[in-house]
Amino acid sequence: MPRVLVVGSGGREHALARALARSPQAPEVLATPGSPGMARDGFEGLGISVGNLNGIVAAAKERHVDLVVVGPEAPLVEGLVDMLGEAGVRAFGPTAAAAKIEGSKAYAKQLMRDVGIPTASHMLFHSHEEALAHLPCASYPAVLKADVLAAGKGVIICASEAEARAAVDVFFGERRFGHTTVVLEEFLHGEELSLFALCDGVRALPMTPAQDYKRIFDGDEGPNTGGMGSYSPVPKVDDELVRDITLTVHQPIVDELRARGTPFHGVLYAGLMLTPDGPKVLEFNARFGDPETQAILPRLRSDVLELLDCSARPAGLDGVEIEWSEDWAVTVVLASRGYPESSSSGDVITGLDEAEAAGAEITHAGTAEEDGQIVTAGGRVLNVTALGPSPGEARERAYAAAQAIRFDGMQMRNDIAARAAERVGA
Ligand code: AMP
Ligand code: GLY
Repeated sequence: MPRVLVVGSGGREHALARALARSPQAPEVLATPGSPGMARDGFEGLGISVGNLNGIVAAAKERHVDLVVVGPEAPLVEGLVDMLGEAGVRAFGPTAAAAKIEGSKAYAKQLMRDVGIPTASHMLFHSHEEALAHLPCASYPAVLKADVLAAGKGVIICASEAEARAAVDVFFGERRFGHTTVVLEEFLHGEELSLFALCDGVRALPMTPAQDYKRIFDGDEGPNTGGMGSYSPVPKVDDELVRDITLTVHQPIVDELRARGTPFHGVLYAGLMLTPDGPKVLEFNARFGDPETQAILPRLRSDVLELLDCSARPAGLDGVEIEWSEDWAVTVVLASRGYPESSSSGDVITGLDEAEAAGAEITHAGTAEEDGQIVTAGGRVLNVTALGPSPGEARERAYAAAQAIRFDGMQMRNDIAARAAERVGA
């Protein structure tokens, strides 16, 4: 029986652990540090934090793990996959050199320019003065981004020069994201799409499309978050469009990184804007998206363990295809009071069993166990995913289950997949 170690503690990792457990290879699934939700599902938590790379490598060796699946970006950018490789442990995810595509927006923008991938035009600011000098000539709305990993929060969309001045203060005055360069980008209009491709260093194999909701409030109002909900598949994004995007976006990156001697293995996540001039890349990530993964993996019919294991081998995906269920999936994120500016912890959560009995899959994003009770322990607390033959039915099931869950200060969006349901007419 293969043994798999999932690195992380969020909803994405919980969804990965569950999908792995459904593999016909019947793997033993461990997690580190793990979460109370994963423990409830019987996945042993090793408790080693994602920042303790040496600890994770030592545990993977000691426990004779066959495959380590890395969820979050930080350990990838810091070189966990390189370290595991040196220790002779197979790992799913890119090396530090390949993960730079997520770790540095400036690097990713240059790479896209070099390869000719459609994306927003941009420029870099290294200082407050440089930024202030340029703002009067920028066109608005404009987008300002910190060049660091900021869990989706380092992006400020500025409707006017005055807003851009305030944003520049956040980056260079307040230094909310530390000492970072700042990227100014052209604002792209359109609908967003998340398209993940599994990569084996040579080939980019697209997964099913998904959409996520970045803003905290209904109708895409309020500040950006790590993601407040998702659904999959996406109306009008058919197999042909998925193939086209993979060939014009993912595959050229995989080819270029291979040519540069830093082959990309793992998930290459393109965050795209479907603009009137065609799809353009907003950003690349080097790992599964959260919360898109929670909506995507329940639709997967193929053996996820085989897919991840093949991605970790050079050209391992050769001849591999992925099968998806026809069902729609909708994921609603339940967040704690104060999110995204802050978060609240220690609030008792009730109704988890009722929500599951209502036919939803609950994954834990930020919970803790105190005196036998599950309590909040983070900004995004729980994800509620339901499947259905139409986006409308999946949506109804997800919200019916979400409404069974209670905790003080709970926030959720009420419009996840609403437009998809309207478009599909069900
Ligand atoms: P990023 O972390 O770069 O994906 O940015 C987070 C979110 O900010 C994106 O998902 C978009 O909603 C928004 N965003 C980022 N860049 C742009 C852009 N150039 N035009 C419009 N919206 C953007
Ligand atoms: N869903 C956005 C992200 O994972 O970055």
